[in-house]
Order: sequence, then C-alpha cells, then structure tokens
Amino acid sequence: MRKILFASSEVHPLIKTGGLADVSASLPIALSESGQDIRIIIPAYRRCLESLTEIRTVATIKLDGYHKPVEILQSTLPDTNVPLYLLHSPEHFDREGGPYSQAKDGDWEDNPARFALFSRAIAKLAINEAGLDWQPDILHCNDWQTGLAPALIADLENRPATVFTIHNLAYQGLYSRDVFDALDLPESFWHSESIEFYDLMSFMKGGLIYADHITTVSPTYAREICSYEFGYGLEGLLTLRAQQGRLTGILNGIDKHEWNPEQDHYLVKKFSAKTVRYKSDNKAALQNEYGLPQKDDVLLIGLISRLVSQKGIDISIAAISRLLHSNATIQLICLGSGESHYEQDLRILRAHYPDKVGVHIGYDEGLSHRIEAGADVFLMPSRFEPCGLNQLYSLRYGTLPIVRNTGGLADTVVDATEQNRKDELATGFKFEASTPQALEHTLGTVIDLFQRPRIWRKMMMTAMAQDYSWNKSAEMYLALYHKLT
Ligand code: ADP
Ligand code: GLC
Repeated sequence: MRKILFASSEVHPLIKTGGLADVSASLPIALSESGQDIRIIIPAYRRCLESLTEIRTVATIKLDGYHKPVEILQSTLPDTNVPLYLLHSPEHFDREGGPYSQAKDGDWEDNPARFALFSRAIAKLAINEAGLDWQPDILHCNDWQTGLAPALIADLENRPATVFTIHNLAYQGLYSRDVFDALDLPESFWHSESIEFYDLMSFMKGGLIYADHITTVSPTYAREICSYEFGYGLEGLLTLRAQQGRLTGILNGIDKHEWNPEQDHYLVKKFSAKTVRYKSDNKAALQNEYGLPQKDDVLLIGLISRLVSQKGIDISIAAISRLLHSNATIQLICLGSGESHYEQDLRILRAHYPDKVGVHIGYDEGLSHRIEAGADVFLMPSRFEPCGLNQLYSLRYGTLPIVRNTGGLADTVVDATEQNRKDELATGFKFEASTPQALEHTLGTVIDLFQRPRIWRKMMMTAMAQDYSWNKSAEMYLALYHKLT
C-alpha cells in the first residue's frame, strides 16, 4: 500500500473545465479501489464549498508569501471514500466564476498568487508539516497550477518522491519577472535550470525540472512533446528526461460507471452492445432536443468541446459547411463554450442550415452524455491532443470517433482501412493533415460506410468491446510509484 497525495486544480464533479477534472477523480478512485491510501487536494473554490455537504477544518497553517493564515478543509470526493483536502483561502478562491477565469473576461489577474499559494500548501502537506499527521510516500502533481510544489520541496530530505503529469503542455503558467518577485520565491529559482524560461517564470518548469518522474497522458504525446512542433521550447529538456527514463506516457482511462450506456441515467433509453438498436431512440430524442428533423438515415455528427484552436473547431466548421453546401445527408450537433469567435461561427452555421445544424453554447453534463449516446459519429479533429477522453466515451457508446492522427487519438482509435475492417479491428476514422480538405475527404468515406449497415454495425461492436477503463493504466501508475519509492 502506498500513501499518495494527488494534487490538482480541478476534480469532477466539483469543479471542471476539461478532462483534467475527469482524470483527477477517476484515477484516484481506481487507485483507492486497488487498496492505496490516496488523498486529493484542490483549492476550495466557491462552487466546491457550496456542493460539499460534509466538510470540516482540519488545520490552520501559515504559508510563505501570504500574510493571513489559511485553512485546510477535509471532505470526501462525492459518492466515494476518497479523502479530499481543500485549501481554503477566501481571498484567493471563494469567488464567483471558473477556476481560472471570470465568466467572459479572461484569466484572473491574481492566478500566479493563487496557484503559488496552492503549490505552497501542497508542499506543506507533502512533507507532513500541515499538522495532519500523514506523510505521503508520493506527491503526484498535475499541470502548471501545481508545478511549484515539486520545486519547493526538491532539496528536503524528508520529502516524498514526486511525479508530475503533463495534461497539456500548451498551458504553462508563464509570468513576468515582476510577478516572480511579488511571489517571494527563492532567488535561486530565477535560473534557466530552474523555473526561469526565456526571461519569464514558468510554473510548468517547476514540475518538469524538479519532479523525480514526468508522465503525460498518452505514449504518442510523450514522443510528440520531445519535438519542436509540440514542445513549445521545452523539447530539449523533455528529450533529456526521456533519455534518462524519467518521462513516460500512460494513457488515461475512463470511469466505467460514470460513462456506461447500460446504466446512464441521462439517457432516454439505456443500451448495451446487445441492445444497440436502442441507440436510435437516443438519436431521435437528441434530434428532437436540438430541434432537428428526426431522421434515422441521416448521419448524425456529434461534437462536444472546449472551443479553442487545439480542438480544430475551424477545421470542423469549414469541412461541414462544404458538405452541407453540397447537400450531404448529415446533421451536426455541437455542445461547447470557449473563444467567442468560434461560438459565433457555430451560430452562423446554424443560421444557414437550421434543419441540419444544432448548436448549444454552454456547459451541460447531461447533454454531453446524450450526445455520446445519440450521435452516429463523434468529431475530434484536434491539432494536438495529449489524450482526449471524448473519443474514449464515444467508443464505449458505439459512436464512431473521427479523429486526427495525433497524441492520444492516435493511440486509441483504429482507422477503418479495408484491412483493419477485414481483421475486425477498426473502431473509427483517422486523418493526417490539419485541413478542412482532409477532414472533408474522410467524412466522405464515413458517409459511404454509413450506407453499409453490416460493416457499420461490426465497427460499432468492435468499438464497444474496447476496454479503456482505468485497470491497466492505474497499474502502470502504481508500478511507477513503486519504482520511485
Ligand atoms: P480537454 O481536457 O482538452 O478539454 P478531453 O477530451 O480530455 O479534452 O476532456 C473534455 C471533457 O470535458 C470531457 O469530459 C467532455 O465531455 C467535457 N466537456 C467539454 N466541453 C463540455 C461542455 N460544453 N459540456 C459538457 N461537457 C463538456
Ligand atoms: C488535457 C488535454 C486532454 C486530456 C486531458 C486529461 O486537458 O487537452 O487531451 O485528455 O487533459 O488528461
């Protein structure tokens, strides 16, 4: 049994902007089920304080860089026995809005102070100096918001082994020298072999330089970030870590209870591989929910996404527009929020094709399940994708993913080539170039195959039979923890 402190800035179902929240719940749950003493720490955002019923203060501590004492609260992750700590500093976290930004006005200006404080609290817990009488063997940090924690404890003798997981290298927490000064960090950190990065401070580098081991969320992304194209200037450091055997890619899994079409209470009709015909009830209900004509023979394309460049939203819009223009028998339904120009472009597409396109701008957990269940295919033409969870949910729901061949998408979807179909391995559709033309071409193949129900059904069965639950991946994390301690 290992004692693990798992630090993250989001956790489902309490606070979520993307897949990090899903992983920060489902991986600790899987590790806890395998007998580990794993405890999660997140900031005590207002939304978390409002939705947790049982919550108590277990420590009051003083952290460097902030003049007031802060509290460590304790609760459990909803519907589990996994202990949850929350850093309660009202000035930093108890406010309306998202974890990183106000509704529409960009990032909170004091994010560096907020996440430096969070990292300092994580560091205190990691070395058992928060008065909790619990010394973890492993500190597992996730993404830049927790990046300073491994740096802060690196030189201490009584520290746990540290793992830092990159969920997305595109977000690094880069700030100016002034910000660095205001955070009152050790001056020795201002060095290219520490967290200084081309005259900026980088929270992410705290994790990359100081953690004993770096992981990222798929084997292909682990290779990609060692290249100029995906490395954002960190490819040299990451290549070195890979050569040292200190960088590995471990695929994310999915919560097999949460994302299970047989038990999904959000659906109008639950289904399994045996009763996959009920998928059409979900399709009709979804078309109805979006105000589109209920037609079973039209290819219904689903898209759920943060609306940002990473996700290739512009590629989707351009390719789908061209197909709609040429009268292809498709419908598109979208759920997402993000950059306003993408929201606007989706609304315009809907206005042009009101009986072919449905758009819901916003965040809606239940609807995301109904799209996974009701759509025929799921669109994910990401420019890069560290792992991606929606294609995994799609496989489970028999909704064939259409993906660009990158990162975790490359590792989890098997393309419908003739050979793969013959070998009964195909689970979706892959294309290479980040262009509307490449996607349009692939969609042409998809539309053709959709007319061939036997082949389609076989692919659905193969997709639904894939096992992307946490079993295998949680074991890989556990093996890593063992190796490090
Ligand atoms: P990323 O973390 O880069 O956004 P992932 O595919 O790993 O991508 O995870 C996205 C997660 O967020 C999935 O659980 C997806 O269902 C969810 N999601 C994204 N946008 C929305 C939305 N508008 N409404 C509901 N869920 C959403
Ligand atoms: C990030 C990535 C996504 C990944 C998720 C969880 O948000 O963009 O690909 O699935 O983290 O690891």
